[in-house]
Amino acid sequence: MPQTFDFILAGGDLVNQDGRGVRDIGIVGDTISAIGDLSRASAAEIIDCRGLTILPGVIDTQVHFREPGPTHKEDLETGSRAAALGGVTAVFEMPNTNPLTTGEPELADKVARAKNRMHCDFAFWVGGTHDNVKDIPDLERLPGAAGVKVFMGSSTGSLLVEDDDGVARILGATRRRAAFHSEDEYRLNERKDLRVAGDPTSHHVWRDVTAALQCTQRLVRIAREKRAIIHVLHVSTAEEIEFLAGHKDVASVEVTPHHLTLSSDDYARLGTKLQMNPPVREPRHRARIWRGVAEGVADILGSDHAPHTLEEKAKPYPASPSGMTGVQTLVPCMLDHVAAGRLTLERFVDMTSAGPARLFGIARKGRVAVGYDADFTIVDLKRRETIRDSWIASRAGWTPYDGKVVTGWAVGTIVRGAKVMWEGDLTTPSRGAPVRFHASL
Ligand code: DOR
Repeated sequence: MPQTFDFILAGGDLVNQDGRGVRDIGIVGDTISAIGDLSRASAAEIIDCRGLTILPGVIDTQVHFREPGPTHKEDLETGSRAAALGGVTAVFEMPNTNPLTTGEPELADKVARAKNRMHCDFAFWVGGTHDNVKDIPDLERLPGAAGVKVFMGSSTGSLLVEDDDGVARILGATRRRAAFHSEDEYRLNERKDLRVAGDPTSHHVWRDVTAALQCTQRLVRIAREKRAIIHVLHVSTAEEIEFLAGHKDVASVEVTPHHLTLSSDDYARLGTKLQMNPPVREPRHRARIWRGVAEGVADILGSDHAPHTLEEKAKPYPASPSGMTGVQTLVPCMLDHVAAGRLTLERFVDMTSAGPARLFGIARKGRVAVGYDADFTIVDLKRRETIRDSWIASRAGWTPYDGKVVTGWAVGTIVRGAKVMWEGDLTTPSRGAPVRFHASL
């Protein structure tokens, strides 16, 4: 009896834990059911993937989709549309919305808004605050919760736990890996006068290397005291990479496409569009972060997609908000680094699929394996494209990479067996669902 599947991805070059090679993949419902030579099997639909490369679905664990609240910048539908068009199959969304995601009702509201409206799967970070510590053990285990996120330095929105005692209380309550925006609020406050009106290059002078390093050192010390595991978001300095290499038993590390691609040299061209927290810095930091990728100190890539409108970004610095879009450009931007030889495709998969699953205990995602969710990012490694603002689906409508020619492009996004994006078009009604985590968490 020939095997029968709902659909088969036929003849693609598969990159997974088993290495790299041409394999067919058979899918039944939302699950991977067979991998190998399926030339004698039948299926309702066969997708010809010859010449294409199939990666496990890309998981972006840091995006800001702004809903509820400032939805003139983004909402869960537009943000996830951008994700799907860029080849991203699941996102973890940040809690600095309005209201803040700090309690059970706010989390449940986000999950309800997202179900069958987002184009990719999702989980939501819960903001850790001075006031919700006692609820954290319950909050971080609710359906749809990614874990707890803490801002130790203030950025967009009002979430802030700047003090050691507050961080210690939160890390005394977490069982899951908590994520941190690590910039020292006290130092940021002391140095505010260093901001030069109208000059965004003063942003990284104000929010300097010491502000980031000092905070990360405090954070690691507290994590050790509390025997907690932590995740340091968007590491932006050479010095933190050096420091965190000595603390891999407690701290995981996220790096971003913008810190790996852009540098302070780009302020002249991009102005406040480059303004980000933590800042994009001098080229030596970018070079050392790349070495952290090669050495394995960096665990995962996150886009920190943080949309603001062009009108908002046009305000003179420092009235201009910090943040740029990124979820749609993560895959092409990083595939271009693969094409240039700065990154292997295997390491890209490690940082965008296997890595997030390993760090956060994601169930059934992060690998192409039988019994796992049928999530795939299907890419054409040779395709040359120009990234354009007009391609950006984010409500913000712009990217710092406008005009950049890249080699490598996502041509298909498959989420739990549904062909969500193919050749630049959304092809399936939205059916996003909460990411599931291992039951022991
Ligand atoms: O630049 C940033 N923008 N960094 C953050 O941490 C927050 C983000 C936002 O929400 O705009």
